[in-house]
Amino acid sequence: MTLNRPDARNALSTSLLREIAVALDSAREDDAARCMVITGGDTVFSAGADIKELAKRTSAAAIVDVRPSLWDRIRKFSKPLIGAVNGYALGGGCELALLCDITVAGAGAAFGQPEINLGIIPAAGATQRLVRLAGRQLAMKWVMTGAIIEAREARAAGAVAEVVADDQTLERALALAEVIAEKPQLAVRLAKEVLNAAQDAPLEVGLALEHKACAALLASADFNEGVTAFLDKRRPKFEGR
Ligand code: COA
Repeated sequence: MTLNRPDARNALSTSLLREIAVALDSAREDDAARCMVITGGDTVFSAGADIKELAKRTSAAAIVDVRPSLWDRIRKFSKPLIGAVNGYALGGGCELALLCDITVAGAGAAFGQPEINLGIIPAAGATQRLVRLAGRQLAMKWVMTGAIIEAREARAAGAVAEVVADDQTLERALALAEVIAEKPQLAVRLAKEVLNAAQDAPLEVGLALEHKACAALLASADFNEGVTAFLDKRRPKFEGR
């Protein structure tokens, strides 16, 4: 999926956000779609909320805004979502990159939560997700200074999985997607669910979920195929059941 509003630096207007949610909803229903890669193209990932739209939003309208539910739909996408980030990923654009399951950044990518410069704070998860990802100290620094964070620092903070040369970003993200697409899909889906639970659930609950998810996978045809292929010394042929 390529965000394509170059004139507004891929700013996340409500309609663009809705398009992302709708695209992920249809990918969720599509058995042929095993993994999604989201990028903003070669020069900018996304400059965040559409400031022209934001300028007209009243507090009352924001309270009943559809945007939180659109973000929820994106966050709850059940298949792997891989981010390929080149250029600026700011505000909501940074939050979108952070909620990807695996984010590949070009060396020249620049992250940041500059909302503070507009007199507001992030509203699509950064205050919560950054603390969990990068820890309270870095989260405070990012959100309170609104500073631009280079890809290298984002990687060191654990906010992205890999930093590659700018012209390799999409290629690398697609290569990761291809690797994951060949894996047994039930296991991939449950891995995502259980790994996500690790961020929020108490350890005991997460460990129980992990154990039960793995126990359920023992009943899958793909598990049978995986072990049979291993013992037969051949490549497995997974069917996602
Ligand atoms: N919302 C709406 N329009 C935006 C936008 C945003 N978040 N970011 C950029 N644009 C528009 C600009 O208004 C400009 O439109 P114009 O040509 O009609 O004047 C166009 O995109 C190009 O922006 P410009 O600032 O000239 O591009 P740049 O490449 O020099 O800088 C950014 C890119 C992303 C660094 C810069 O645009 C920026 O800081 N954007 C705001 C980021 C932000 O604060 N996000 C948080 C929002 S809550």
